[in-house]
Amino acid sequence: MGVTGLSRRAACLSVMGGLVAAALPMRSTASVGFDPASRVFRLDGEGVTYAFGIDSAGQVQSLHWGGPLALDDQLAPAPKPSDYSGFDRANSVTPLEFVAFGGGLVTEPSLKVAFPSGVRDLVLKYLDHTLTSEGITLRMKDISTEVYVELRYSMDKATGLLARSAVVDNRTKAWLRVDQMAAATLNLPFGEDYEVNYLTGRWAAEWTLQKRPLEAGATVLESRLGMTGSQNNPWLAIGRAGLTDEDNGPVWFGALAWSGAWRITVEKDIVGHPRITAGYNPFDFAYRLKPGERLETPVFYAGFSHDGMGGASRRMHRFQRSVILPGAPEPKLRPVLYNSWEATEFAVNEVGQIALAEKAATLGVERFVMDDGWFGKRNNDHAGLGDWTVNPEKFPNGLEALISRVRGLGMEFGLWVEPEMVNPDSQLYRAHPDWVINFKGRPRTEGRNQLVLNLARSDVRDYVLKSLDLLLRDNDIAFLKWDHNRSWSEPGWPERAPEDQQKLYVDYTKNLYWILAELRRRHPKLEIESCAGGGGRVDLGIMHLTDQVWPTDNTDPFDRLKMQDGFSHAYMPGVMMAWVTASPNWVNKRATSLEYRFLSAMQGCLGIGDNLNHWGQEDFATAKRLVAEYKSIRQTVQRGDLYRLISPQGGSERSATLTVSETKRQAVLFTFLHSSSTFDATPLIQLQGLDPQARYAVRSLVGAVEADTPKIASGSYWMHHGVRIPLRGDFQAAALVLDVV
Ligand code: DGJ
Repeated sequence: MGVTGLSRRAACLSVMGGLVAAALPMRSTASVGFDPASRVFRLDGEGVTYAFGIDSAGQVQSLHWGGPLALDDQLAPAPKPSDYSGFDRANSVTPLEFVAFGGGLVTEPSLKVAFPSGVRDLVLKYLDHTLTSEGITLRMKDISTEVYVELRYSMDKATGLLARSAVVDNRTKAWLRVDQMAAATLNLPFGEDYEVNYLTGRWAAEWTLQKRPLEAGATVLESRLGMTGSQNNPWLAIGRAGLTDEDNGPVWFGALAWSGAWRITVEKDIVGHPRITAGYNPFDFAYRLKPGERLETPVFYAGFSHDGMGGASRRMHRFQRSVILPGAPEPKLRPVLYNSWEATEFAVNEVGQIALAEKAATLGVERFVMDDGWFGKRNNDHAGLGDWTVNPEKFPNGLEALISRVRGLGMEFGLWVEPEMVNPDSQLYRAHPDWVINFKGRPRTEGRNQLVLNLARSDVRDYVLKSLDLLLRDNDIAFLKWDHNRSWSEPGWPERAPEDQQKLYVDYTKNLYWILAELRRRHPKLEIESCAGGGGRVDLGIMHLTDQVWPTDNTDPFDRLKMQDGFSHAYMPGVMMAWVTASPNWVNKRATSLEYRFLSAMQGCLGIGDNLNHWGQEDFATAKRLVAEYKSIRQTVQRGDLYRLISPQGGSERSATLTVSETKRQAVLFTFLHSSSTFDATPLIQLQGLDPQARYAVRSLVGAVEADTPKIASGSYWMHHGVRIPLRGDFQAAALVLDVV
């Protein structure tokens, strides 16, 4: 097996294609090899080997995705494909890397096309490949037409995360319609006991962790309406019943880097092969390629861990901070912010915002963000979206007076925008009613009284870029909260020929990425939050262009524990914004202490969203202390390794998380109690991930450890003996910090 490119920095795949050639730099690329004798390819990263080979029929078969093999292990060549029966032919029962709809395929195709003749049969065979230190590009070609497909592979050495995408290239002399296209098909080892973990949700209830056995048939996770969505998130993790738990056992996991409509199908075919196919959602999809045109898919990132669900998410988090996020491998730490939304809603004005900013500054807040209501005729959610000029009644001095006061108080200034939307009651809509996504002559269904601008149109794309660019040029704005408060309806593009209208599904998202990239290019210090009425647009595609995400509008600190736990399975706490808001909270009318609210929010990126005009002196003192404490642990919380010690799922009365810094010199433990009863004993919590030899001193941020707890002990002591934190009552919380002495 030839091995090239070890430990070399490289650029991975061009993820977005076309307008946004967003090459994600891998920290260092894995070992990449090809054995010409067996025609087997392999990629080796930390703890992972991925291999595939070309069989005697020219098909590309999957050979291994799992734990590491020795570099000199010879993999057997791909076996000769054979039919299972007259109904189940070879292409449907062989684990293939990428399979087109053709030759009687009955499983989920990776690609389905139509030719002008009406032929919809495509049979891809291996053509050639290029092997570089950056990865593998393998080309396939249809058996009788000039249709080519490129499969791209690269792997991040440190995390073993594999990046896969595909490109279809129409070199025929006529158009070719792509009806379905995935980034990849990935095959798991044959097995009967798989369980699929995935995330579902809805507004104010995102990040619900689900698990179901993988039985014969298909499990379909998807979004149909032009955005990532919160009904399903494009992430999954597959374990084995009885073998996989939080700390142990194999986990195959993956996430699609795409913020438009997507689908991930997990199948178990008739002979029991489990496979994942992930890419554009074929529902309502059609992308016509002219001769010479290509369509590229987003990247599907796939990983493997032997250390259970916890190990899988730690790999995913490390990969996000070292490869995906802006500024990777050293993305900037998230500042403590204040946000005005829950304090004032649309009733923002210069005097009121300055009063809040002055109070926020005394707490140690680093960034003051004015939310919705500052522009156009925006006094409620019925008007103004699209008119990105400052409302002169609310801000007679423009934004200048507020921003200079915020800056004078030592904070950065951030602003809410929702650039992809328009209210029918706006100057923009009155001038350009044709700019929205719509079907000619059909109703334009509103969501939150707004319509979606057709960002796929170049004039709309340019308008959005220009309005935001002007805003950023004219004002000292460090941060945009980029909101998106509805999904699509009537997905038409009337200015295009009917057969090209569905290009909307791809071109809209590409233009969104292009605008974000261009704004960042023109304003290199700008940071952006991805928000979609909460967590409706969190995925690895948007995370490449935004610094943080708003996971949910639900700010109830108890509800959040479960959502944050679900979120952390796929995404890192270091991008997850969490605000401290009012008690009782608006969602459940639940009352909790200020300390409980702080500790819940401190598990992610801390923000404050309460109306500070309602706070007393004691609240200010508590908040000031905890903001300062947060700053002392933020590097650990935002960049460290997360261990979910006690799960809040399934009606658990308790939960606990531990984050250990990359150097293992600091660890932070948060623990929460829903309700104590029957004078229950306090459990010992055993920590994980510490340096067993190092001596750690423990101190409490909130709450106290049991009286006989040593002040200093070894990592081994904290991991094997544990620590007891007595909590009694309802909605109690405590936090400890362990520092190496
Ligand atoms: C939805 C967001 O999730 C909220 O935080 C807030 O920004 C509102 N939109 C404003 O309309």
